[in-house]
Amino acid sequence: MQTRKTQKSPKTKIIVVINQKGGTGKTTLSFHLAHACLENEQSTVLCLDLDSQGTLSQYLTDDLDVISVTQGGVGDLFEGATPRPQKTTHPQIDLLHGHRELDRYDADEAAGERAYSSEMPDLLRSLAYDYVVIDVPPAVGLRHLSPLLWADIVVIPLEPAMAAITGFQNVLGVMDESINASNPNVKWVGVMNRANMRVKAHREKDAWMRETYGNKILATLSTRAAVAEAMEESPARPVWSHGGAPKELRDQWREVCAEIVGK
Ligand SMILES: Nc1ncnc2c1ncn2[C@@H]1O[C@H](COP(=O)(O)OP(=O)(O)OP(=O)(O)O)[C@@H](O)[C@H]1O
Ligand SMILES: [Mg+2]
Repeated sequence: MQTRKTQKSPKTKIIVVINQKGGTGKTTLSFHLAHACLENEQSTVLCLDLDSQGTLSQYLTDDLDVISVTQGGVGDLFEGATPRPQKTTHPQIDLLHGHRELDRYDADEAAGERAYSSEMPDLLRSLAYDYVVIDVPPAVGLRHLSPLLWADIVVIPLEPAMAAITGFQNVLGVMDESINASNPNVKWVGVMNRANMRVKAHREKDAWMRETYGNKILATLSTRAAVAEAMEESPARPVWSHGGAPKELRDQWREVCAEIVGK
């Protein structure tokens, strides 16, 4: 890991991956985006795992038990303690891990005050990484909503299914109602994931999303076994580094993630 700068880094880009619908690919995309941030070999990335499932933490550390460490990690942000990022299996990616007791912050008034204050994004930037990638839990609440205030880029993965489209629209609604006023420069993109374009209902929903939201829907990613296989390697790797993945799949994921990171 490179030497840390100590003062606030204005160039830190904060990327938040969110949808209240479970299983749309938030963690998969967060993992891939973190790796896409490394196209520049000098770059450094901090991942925040706000999900008490801690799946991103497990993938990044290759350690199932990381979620049992219920002190430190991303909880320090809500505690007002100095965050101490840990190493991951990738030398340029650090982590504030998620754990099974993160729910305790959801109804904690002091945690809420910290999370919704403008000091939180300043604190994240003061850690002086080039990128901060945040995986958000599916349940609406403090850990789901407050990251929208910290974000430079909001990425909303969805599936071609009613509940996921509703989740996508809810994120846009929250941004319109309560985020854009205090975070006016935030950008957002949608990514259709887990599509099967042989299924008529998927094709129709994908087409509707594109008609409705135009090029804000960056891509349609199909359900492909190689994506899950790459993540289940030990250590997990992005699909573009997975030997068993076809070239067109590797290229598509690399290009989509690079486009998001470059926004
Ligand atoms: N394009 C894809 N092709 C194949 N499998 C995928 C794809 N995207 C995601 N998956 C798989 O779908 C499952 C759900 O993905 P993931 O865990 O990333 O979703 P999530 O939105 O983070 O879920 P949760 O809401 O529970 O946090 C995982 O098993 C993942 O490997
Ligand atoms: Mg997840």
